[in-house]
Amino acid sequence: MKIYLETMGCQMNRLDSELIESALRAGGHELLDEPSEAEVILYNTCSVRKHAEQKVFSRLGAGGRRNRSGTKVLVGVLGCMAQRLGRKLRRRFPQVDIICAPGQLHRLVDLIDTAAAGGPAEALDPQRNDKGDPLCDAQIDKMDASRDPSVGATRSQAYVRVMRGCNIFCTYCIVPFVRGPQRSRDPDHIAQEVRRLVDAGRSEITLLGQIVNCYRFCGGGRTTRFCDLLLRLSDTPGLRRLRFVTSHPLQFGDDILEAMRDLSNVCEYIHCPAQSGSDAILTRMGRRYTRAQYDELVDRARDIVPGVVLGGDFIVGFGGETEADHAASADLIRRSGYKNSFIFKYSPRPGTAAAKRFADDVPDATKRRRNAELLAVQAEVGLAHHKQYVGRTVDILVTGPSPRADKLPKKPSPDSTQLAGRTRGNHIVVFDGPESLIGQYLDVTIEAATALTLLGRRCVS
Ligand code: SAH
Ligand code: SF4
Ligand code: F3S
Repeated sequence: MKIYLETMGCQMNRLDSELIESALRAGGHELLDEPSEAEVILYNTCSVRKHAEQKVFSRLGAGGRRNRSGTKVLVGVLGCMAQRLGRKLRRRFPQVDIICAPGQLHRLVDLIDTAAAGGPAEALDPQRNDKGDPLCDAQIDKMDASRDPSVGATRSQAYVRVMRGCNIFCTYCIVPFVRGPQRSRDPDHIAQEVRRLVDAGRSEITLLGQIVNCYRFCGGGRTTRFCDLLLRLSDTPGLRRLRFVTSHPLQFGDDILEAMRDLSNVCEYIHCPAQSGSDAILTRMGRRYTRAQYDELVDRARDIVPGVVLGGDFIVGFGGETEADHAASADLIRRSGYKNSFIFKYSPRPGTAAAKRFADDVPDATKRRRNAELLAVQAEVGLAHHKQYVGRTVDILVTGPSPRADKLPKKPSPDSTQLAGRTRGNHIVVFDGPESLIGQYLDVTIEAATALTLLGRRCVS
């Protein structure tokens, strides 16, 4: 069938969508770039904030859909929202034909057949407190193992999952409910997958986990910790860069920092969300660390890993957040010197501890103002960070045309366009060059900087 897949949410969902794409193609389906001719429309959804869910509701709101040829379109809701809302989705939107949770995506090809035959097509993960069927990772892991290494957003980069789920239960967060308990994958399976991807030309691998640094696998008579995994994977022949997201400030030991310092292909970028700079809020969020511990981690990272680059996430307007708490977050952004941070307005998620225990008492206008204020502080800090690179030569992986390239009034020259690349520290670098450079590593001299980007010129040797 002709299928259109739209992906929302985090890198986990982007990876899931790549695996879905591989499985659908292997099942004989065709993936389309736009929905007008589709016979099946799939939404791979996110539940992390209300806004993310509303986006899907507005897509579904249109009622029963027909494509350009007049055929009824099958509609599927996949991923985190499918797990959170389950059957309630269909009660509210009877036009939903397929519901498939993140741990059941290996069943999607069958579900599409069932729905096409008019049957009920639904596959949900067990609830976390359910004593019934345990999650069967052996099945879903086959999707990772059998992925088509040529599917992906760029030719030279790939995501590899090392963990599923999360057990931290930050009070605001829906992820542990929709992605289930924390499970680390077998390092042998991860190493095989990395090798297959690298052999297929993907020289930059990003390891994914909600709390990736807490990876821990017990098996074969030994325990593999995250630093052991880095050591093992860094040996993969042809692997130029190894990255990982997202880190949790807890359990970020010197062993990981030393691995980053000592293993030449492990990149010196740490995305380690603080969420707030205030102890009172961190306690209410259930983050399990204090501001002083976070500051200590930043200092330790800077001490051990030369040139380490940091990124973060913050939530503004969490229940009970005062102006002093907010000022503490601004102060933490300045102190940490992040390259970039994502700032989110608190959105209570039904069923989470925060939604039950704390009133969502910061007015929306205040959340918006605090959001804008932290963005402004981050822009200042990000500009200062990026400016340090002006005059330096950096090694980049050319990832593709810059997002602005086709909007530019004219190409720099007939055989040159505006390209974008990434440094080891995950900075975006924009420079002019021929498209044949895409997928290559090269040196670029930085000539200017903005809060989010470095502008450079290719070094001609
Ligand atoms: N596992 C990662 C983050 C996962 S969710 C970690 O622990 O850092 C990605 C980001 O969404 C979080 O870092 C947080 O900043 C934000 N987020 C999560 N739940 C939220 C909520 N209820 N409201 C607003 N932002 C939220
Ligand atoms: Fe959510 Fe916290 Fe787990 Fe991150 S660590 S996924 S914010 S519960
Ligand atoms: Fe969203 Fe699910 Fe990721 S809730 S942030 S898509 S794990």
